[in-house]
Amino acid sequence: MHAKKFYLRSFGCQMNDYDTSRMADLLRERFGAEPVSTPEEADVVVLNTCSIREKAQEKVFSDLGRLREAKKSHPGQIIAVGGCVASQEGEGIVKRSPWVDVVFGPQTLHRLPDLMEARVRTGRPQVDVSFPELEKFDCLPKRQPEGAAAFLSIMEGCSKYCSYCVVPYTRGEEISRPMVDVLVEAVQLVDAGVKEITLLGQNVNAYRGQTPEGDTADFALLLEYLSEIEGLERIRYTTSHPREFTPRLIEAYARLPKLVNHVHLPVQAGSDRILAAMKRGYTALEYKSIIRRLRAVRPDISIATDFIVGFPGETEAEFEETLRLQEEVGFDASYSFIYSPRPGTPAARLPDPVSYSEKLERLQRLQSANDQCARAISESMLESVQRVLVVGPARRGEGLLSARTDNNRIVNFPGPLELVDRMVNVRITDVYPHTLGGVLVE
Ligand code: 5AD
Ligand code: SF4
Repeated sequence: MHAKKFYLRSFGCQMNDYDTSRMADLLRERFGAEPVSTPEEADVVVLNTCSIREKAQEKVFSDLGRLREAKKSHPGQIIAVGGCVASQEGEGIVKRSPWVDVVFGPQTLHRLPDLMEARVRTGRPQVDVSFPELEKFDCLPKRQPEGAAAFLSIMEGCSKYCSYCVVPYTRGEEISRPMVDVLVEAVQLVDAGVKEITLLGQNVNAYRGQTPEGDTADFALLLEYLSEIEGLERIRYTTSHPREFTPRLIEAYARLPKLVNHVHLPVQAGSDRILAAMKRGYTALEYKSIIRRLRAVRPDISIATDFIVGFPGETEAEFEETLRLQEEVGFDASYSFIYSPRPGTPAARLPDPVSYSEKLERLQRLQSANDQCARAISESMLESVQRVLVVGPARRGEGLLSARTDNNRIVNFPGPLELVDRMVNVRITDVYPHTLGGVLVE
């Protein structure tokens, strides 16, 4: 099997980025392969796809069209398609694009090398988009973190079945890794120099990990144990769901200083009728109550969110409720999307009289409200001292370093390269449109 050079392309969320990095580990381990920068040079090309919205999905098929051309000049090249589109379409991908060799899902990515070998041995394309639960974690090679920040997957999938969302169908139901497995991986990362861990999952706060005693640990308990790890300085997580944002989790913010002063808690909409139609399981008031209780224990916590605008039948008045929520909560960052009907989801069958141009206009209004708010928050950080993780030299500016604040802002400041991968204190002196400027303080 000739698989010395690989080219991986990741679409969609951080979960997919993480999975893609694990595919690289697998290809290195099995074939001694190394990454190359274009698909033309590669023996193996992998697309790790996303199907959350129509646009992401379309990109996959246009990419596959281009890859067909590249493959003509590279006989024997293996083209593999993984991720959520693969999970949804399965065999359909090989039918539509017969030059694809391997199709695998988010839960079978550890089988990629085997599937590649089977493809060569049998001469037939291989498709495996099954859901073998936690097998993948037991089969993946040891992590080799780069730098001081690393992702750590603690649970997968989603059992909430929001009416617009494909994730429960593509990634399966919620399933948590046993608590000890998570803790061991965290310790290994910290031993390798990691200072900041981002816990990953579609719904991290739905975590129910088995303990050695046979009990179940919830997310708050997991955070408590992680906090005990010496040398680990910051804990982030993404994404959480308001329905399981428990009082215990809020208390954790009071007790655990390593939990960053930032939370990403998708709200999706400000209208209770729309929230019910989305099957989110909370009202706008309940959402605001979570935020109020969080702020009671962490007064300056920054809140990021996701919005969907133009859910089927959303009226102008209902959209204005979303705008009002944005203003009331003062979201620091928001990822807002126009509703995209996803095949097989209940919402895709709802009548939708609102035009696309109107939805686009709503999106722009929401984004500009959010930009203003984010700018105000940046300005309020002026003169404050922030504890930041130095990620490397700044992209622009001689002698400048680049670091990340709790609330995910980039701060550039003068300092020596020895500080890279360390946590330092920086006083904020300037606010620019996309970054902050600062000076090192002792
Ligand atoms: N259309 C538009 N946005 C969606 N999201 C999920 N499903 C859809 C859809 N069908 C958004 C939600 C979610 C984020 C990851 O993507 O806001 O929080
Ligand atoms: Fe895309 Fe969602 Fe799948 Fe991530 S989980 S790859 S965002 S569909």
